[in-house]
Amino acid sequence: MLQGLLTGVLALNFLLYPGSLAVSWEDWWTYDGISGPAFWGLINPEWSLCNKGRRQSPVNLEPNKLLFDPNLRPLHIDKHRVSGTISNTGHSVIFTVDNDTRHHINVTGGPLSYKYQFQEIHIHYGLHDQFGSEHSINGYAFPAEIQIFGFNSQLYTNFSDALHRAQGIVVVALLLQLGDLSNAELRMLTDQLDRIRYGGEESEVKRISVRGLLPETEYYMTYDGSTTMPACHETVTWLILNKPIYITKQQMHALRKLMQGDVKHQKAPLGNNFRPPQPLHHRPVRTNIDFNIKRSELGKQCPSMYKDVYYKANSWKQH
Ligand SMILES: *[C@@H]1O[C@H](CO)[C@@H](O)[C@H](O)[C@H]1NC(C)=O
Ligand SMILES: *[C@@H]1O[C@H](CO)[C@@H](O)[C@H](O)[C@H]1NC(C)=O
Ligand SMILES: *[C@@H]1O[C@H](CO)[C@@H](O)[C@H](O)[C@H]1NC(C)=O
Repeated sequence: MLQGLLTGVLALNFLLYPGSLAVSWEDWWTYDGISGPAFWGLINPEWSLCNKGRRQSPVNLEPNKLLFDPNLRPLHIDKHRVSGTISNTGHSVIFTVDNDTRHHINVTGGPLSYKYQFQEIHIHYGLHDQFGSEHSINGYAFPAEIQIFGFNSQLYTNFSDALHRAQGIVVVALLLQLGDLSNAELRMLTDQLDRIRYGGEESEVKRISVRGLLPETEYYMTYDGSTTMPACHETVTWLILNKPIYITKQQMHALRKLMQGDVKHQKAPLGNNFRPPQPLHHRPVRTNIDFNIKRSELGKQCPSMYKDVYYKANSWKQH
């Protein structure tokens, strides 16, 4: 029944957009309706993890359930500038680093066991200020979220290969809050938006500092999850930084003018391109914020992976 309905919708799409007969599966998913997130896993058998997976992203983060892990190190992202292309893919705004860059930006530290190589940046955002981010905090969504993707360059040769391999991908997520001033690197991206108004358009961005996008904080939350677009591969180590960065009303306005389709078939606005939160299914969300230092101030106990706890739990071994 559902499958029949889906086929019907796909056929209808063919009728509406006859020029698109040669398009790939990539064009058959959206963020709403019958090809929206609840149906991704049914549209294409290769995307079945989108429905069956139990380690999916994004998730709602609950600060009082975070586990402090003293083994987590500071996150390191190389600070040199790189050039690349920003494009409107019809699903998202994506900046991709030039593939001939000789000096790759490495992402290391944090919870990572391997060295990762920066590959691309995705922007998810809402058509209204109340929602837009994929990750939420205590049920609170932000107007936008920027995701910085890297692939495991010690085990794999490129991003597309690493996407479906063990420990293949790291994503550093930044939550965006409305403010009077954005950082200069975010402006470098949003300055190009007028040139990528329609799906398929792209524009060059020269000498951007990925590190310069980040807020000033050493604190983050981390968990194991998936990509938030089909095929929902469960290969991603997520880091969500503990402070937002700021985006202005004007920049949000420029994002909201983007369309999914091309000039002839503009389709819907690109915004609201976020997947709803997925169940954690007992996965831990760890943090390098040591709540225990503040325990007495807060007057309550926060969960921890502190060594003390570990030794106490195993103290029977010493007798
Ligand atoms: C870089 O990308 C271009 C265009 O996608 C492609 O033709 C070229 O083979 C790529 N080069 C490398 C070294 O991967
Ligand atoms: C990143 O890692 C690669 C491969 O190990 C290395 O050649 C390169 O110098 C590193 N980049 C920086 C800026 O350290
Ligand atoms: C990525 O790496 C895989 C495995 O090494 C290779 O088969 C594939 O052609 C590569 N893809 C690109 C786009 O370079």
